[in-house]
Amino acid sequence: MNLGKLGQALTAREIFELIQHDLEQVEKKITLESVASVDAVTAIGQYLHSSGGKRLRPSLLLLAAKLAGGDPASPMAIQLGAVVEMIHAATLVHDDVIDTAQTRRGRPSTNIKWGNHTCVLAGDWLYMQAFQIALRERVFQVLDLLIGLTQMMVEGELLQLERIGRMDISEADCMELVDRKTACLFSVCCRLGCLAGGGDLISQEKLGEYAWNLGMAFQLVDDVLDFTAREKTLGKPVGGDLREGKITLPVVYALECASAEERRLVEVILRERNYAAVPFERILALLEKYHAIERVRERAQAFTDKARQVISEFPDSPYQRALLAVTELVTERDH
Ligand code: IPE
Ligand code: IPE
Ligand code: MG
Ligand code: MG
Repeated sequence: MNLGKLGQALTAREIFELIQHDLEQVEKKITLESVASVDAVTAIGQYLHSSGGKRLRPSLLLLAAKLAGGDPASPMAIQLGAVVEMIHAATLVHDDVIDTAQTRRGRPSTNIKWGNHTCVLAGDWLYMQAFQIALRERVFQVLDLLIGLTQMMVEGELLQLERIGRMDISEADCMELVDRKTACLFSVCCRLGCLAGGGDLISQEKLGEYAWNLGMAFQLVDDVLDFTAREKTLGKPVGGDLREGKITLPVVYALECASAEERRLVEVILRERNYAAVPFERILALLEKYHAIERVRERAQAFTDKARQVISEFPDSPYQRALLAVTELVTERDH
């Protein structure tokens, strides 16, 4: 790759090439560290790990580490890359139990294969293993960030659970969940990367702000894809949010304009938890009628614009350009 192309946007391929070697090390580390004394726990970790996934969180961490500290990424960055992907995996194992999911990453989800009881414990084990790897760095700030983050995410899942089946969900409620579910972890990834690369506190905060905005956009796009994507590409069923009793921002925007009769359509799905009485296409038509998807995409775009503005303040480098280019991949993604 020609790294001399000052100011030019990078392609997904070029971004991947910048961190490919480090990501391979992260993958090896995860495999090595996912072995428990109980076979089912090892199997669950490996099953999820080998099912794919975009590896976005370790990628962000590694790019931030290299932006702050250059090439090669420090051993600490590799360790922490494994830590954030393992925490992500733990949240997915627990989340699929809570959501009674069927599919994850294009395969039967872990709750389907191993059952809820085993998955709750395997998720706990993955969390603890991730914290143990992080602890080896003997850096209190790392633990501060990770513990604060995990509590934020767990509280987010609890809040979401309390709101299941409810129609009275506001835009602010949605934004809070988007923050807790996704933006927080994205932000911590970039902060940890910067820390591992030897960056100062101001750079850490700036990179954290960049990634928080990116994470907000990522989750809003996820909420849109739940209505607009195809299951084969997404790796999980479409229309899942409403079927799980969850009102996300596209529906909030549609409900703002909906008639009493149209509101009742949504109520039926929330109550029945299926699309038998009100077909999914009817909901899509409702979203279309009130330009709800468009409005959410605009909100997502505003967050990516902010992320771009923050990352533009860093000096030009391949890593800075990669982080800039990631913002476009997030809004244009189809899975
Ligand atoms: C899934 O995250 C959970 C959300 C925050 C929407 P990703 O879409 O990054 O999942 P994988 O890791 O690529 O499977
Ligand atoms: C994502 O939550 C999991 C966490 C970040 C805890 P969702 O339930 O909204 O995401 P998917 O659709 O299962 O990936
Ligand atoms: Mg879920
Ligand atoms: Mg969930």
